[in-house]
Amino acid sequence: MNNLYKDIENQIVNIPDKIESIGIITGAGISQESGIPTFRGKDGLWKNYKPEELATPYAFEKNPKLVWEWYEMRRQIIKKAEPNPAHYTLVKMEEFFENFLLVTQNVDGLHEKAGSKNIIELHGNIWRARCILCNYKEFLETPLPEIPPHCPKCNSLMRPDVLWFGETYDTNLLNIVQDFFQKIGLLFVIGSSGQVSVPVYLAKEAHLNGAIVIEINPDFSMYSHFADIILRYKAAEALPILWQFLKEKWQN
Ligand code: APR
Ligand code: ZN
Repeated sequence: MNNLYKDIENQIVNIPDKIESIGIITGAGISQESGIPTFRGKDGLWKNYKPEELATPYAFEKNPKLVWEWYEMRRQIIKKAEPNPAHYTLVKMEEFFENFLLVTQNVDGLHEKAGSKNIIELHGNIWRARCILCNYKEFLETPLPEIPPHCPKCNSLMRPDVLWFGETYDTNLLNIVQDFFQKIGLLFVIGSSGQVSVPVYLAKEAHLNGAIVIEINPDFSMYSHFADIILRYKAAEALPILWQFLKEKWQN
């Protein structure tokens, strides 16, 4: 048995034999092995681009064309991407549990493409555009017919329906997550740096309410401080194996 198997086997001994409900938080790291760049870290997007010029309401006001061009570049990468074994493992986990909630910071839509059902996209979806005036929303394919796109209802500008820096979270979504996370036995945090603090807060609250926190991330993150189990591996490599072990443990 190699290290990965041994490490996982050793680390899961303290997980209870019965878990009623389970929560997941994912970040850009889970899609890294699908070929989608993360934001931070070695090849992270924020190394080459400035968030304040591309991912803020001010940036959009100043130069909507530039913002949309950046999103189109990312949409083209994402269009070609397929879910990886980590995304598919989460689908299997959802089938196993009656109470399952997947909270993602990713806007790439790969969880849905893999077949996950109970998903909360905390930071929106890159395929959806929203009118800045009347709030009309629609999914737009790439390439866009015009950049920037205009609202078919009121002809105002459409923006990507994603959460930008300086914007507030949808409180309805936060409430759903907080309610659900109060009663979970286990929380997986997969591929997130924790540099965005609201998801870290949600995880910490779950932890304080008794959830065992398992982190899967090759590097240290802001979740690592309070994670009970830390697997320093890539998600697509570790999650399927971890799931094999856990399923065996819980099926008996
Ligand atoms: N498997 C698991 N984790 C990985 C992998 C991998 N193959 N590759 C990289 N990682 C980890 C990195 O170590 C890092 O901790 O994924 C994390 C990616 O961090 P970020 O790029 O900061 O992504 P995320 O935490 O999702 O960012 C949050 O920031 O700019 C915003 O809105 C954007 O939703 C995003 C938010
Ligand atoms: Zn409109």
